[in-house]
Amino acid sequence: MADEPDRIPAAELPPGTVRRVGDWAVGDRGGAYFAVSRRCRHQLADLSEGELDAEGCLVCPWHQSRYDVRTGEMVSGPKGFLGYHGPTPGYTQFVRSYGKYLKLRVRRALRRGDDVVLE
Ligand code: FES
Repeated sequence: MADEPDRIPAAELPPGTVRRVGDWAVGDRGGAYFAVSRRCRHQLADLSEGELDAEGCLVCPWHQSRYDVRTGEMVSGPKGFLGYHGPTPGYTQFVRSYGKYLKLRVRRALRRGDDVVLE
């Protein structure tokens, strides 16, 4: 972990944004910073390229799995797989059921001076 960057200037992380910090997707969820591991539990898309939705969930850029950034739990399964994007009801439920147990890792992210620091 010695080479892993563990901070980002707070100015680069306005509310509602998500950024990459080393192996982590870091964001500001309505004034509360969060950090979760970057690889989607479905097919490993980079969650630092995802977006926060209206409920504050982190949405995967590939098939829109949704994660609770406080717990790392997948709260909605993917809508598609590989290059297919669309409804896959049974599959979506299946992935969500394992996503409930294979959570993203969660790290504390706090404001320290001008930076957001991962602990
Ligand atoms: S890779 Fe994230 S939902 Fe498919």
